[in-house]
Amino acid sequence: MIYIKTAQQIEKIRKSSRLAAQSLDLAGQHLKPGITTGDLDKIIHQFLVENGATPATLGYKGPRGAPPFPGASCISVNDVVVHGIPGPLVIMEGDLVKIDVTARLDSYFGDTARTFLVGSVPEPGPLLARTTQEAMILGIEQIKAGARLGDIGHAIQTHTEARGFSVVRAFVGHGVGIEFHEAPNVPHFGRPGTGYRIKSGMIFTVEPMINAGDSEVELLDDGWTVITADGSLSSQFEHSVLVTASGYEILTLS
Ligand code: MF3
Ligand code: CO
Ligand code: CO
Repeated sequence: MIYIKTAQQIEKIRKSSRLAAQSLDLAGQHLKPGITTGDLDKIIHQFLVENGATPATLGYKGPRGAPPFPGASCISVNDVVVHGIPGPLVIMEGDLVKIDVTARLDSYFGDTARTFLVGSVPEPGPLLARTTQEAMILGIEQIKAGARLGDIGHAIQTHTEARGFSVVRAFVGHGVGIEFHEAPNVPHFGRPGTGYRIKSGMIFTVEPMINAGDSEVELLDDGWTVITADGSLSSQFEHSVLVTASGYEILTLS
C-alpha cells in the first residue's frame, strides 16, 4: 500500500528529514583522516538523541538471518556500496565516504545520504561522486504528480551511463515517512513513460548507487556490508522527496 501523506504527516516528516540532513552536516565537519567510522557514528547518534530523535537503522531487522544492524548510521568507504557497519575502520586521506542516516522523530522517518571526499581524492572518485549527485538531482527533477517512476530511473541511468559508470540494480529507493521502508520501490534505471504513476502527497527516496566499474555487488559474511563485485569505487546520494501537484519538494535539506 502506498501512503498519501496528510499535511500534518508531511510537516512531521519535514522535521525528521531536516534533522537527518543536519546530522550529515555535522558528520561532514568531523570527517578527517584519523577518525574512525565508529567515532562518526557516535557523533551522529548523540546529535539525533539530543534533538529528540532516534536512529532508525540501529537494531533494524536484518534480511535472511542477518543480525540487527548495529549502527546509528551506515558508513560505506570506497568499494563498499551500502550498509557499511561503523566500527574501528580509520578514515584516510583520499577515501570516498558514504554516510546514510535515517532519523525517527515523533515516530516519522527521514532518510538521506551523501558521498564525502576526504582530502585530495584521485580520479575517478571526484567525477563519480559528482555524477552520482547530478544523476540524483536529474531523477528528482522528473518528479511531479502524473509522472512515472520509469521517468526518474531513466534520467538517472542515462546520465550515469553517459559517463561510463553503472547503476546498481540490487537496491532501490523506497517510500518513506510513516515507516522506514514503504512501497513503492523506486528503481534508479528504467524507461520513460513506464512504471507506477506518482501522486501528489507521496514521499519517497531517490538514492542512486553508482559504480565506477560494473553494476554487480556482493554481500559480505557479516550479512550487511555490500561491496562492488569488481572492487571498483562506488558513490551514493539520497534525498527524501515529497511529490506536489506542480513538482517536488526535497525534504532532506538542512
Ligand atoms: N538508510 C538505508 C536506505 O537508504 C537503509 C539502511 S538499513 C540498515 O534505505 F539496516 F542497513 F541500516
Ligand atoms: Co533509503
Ligand atoms: Co538511507
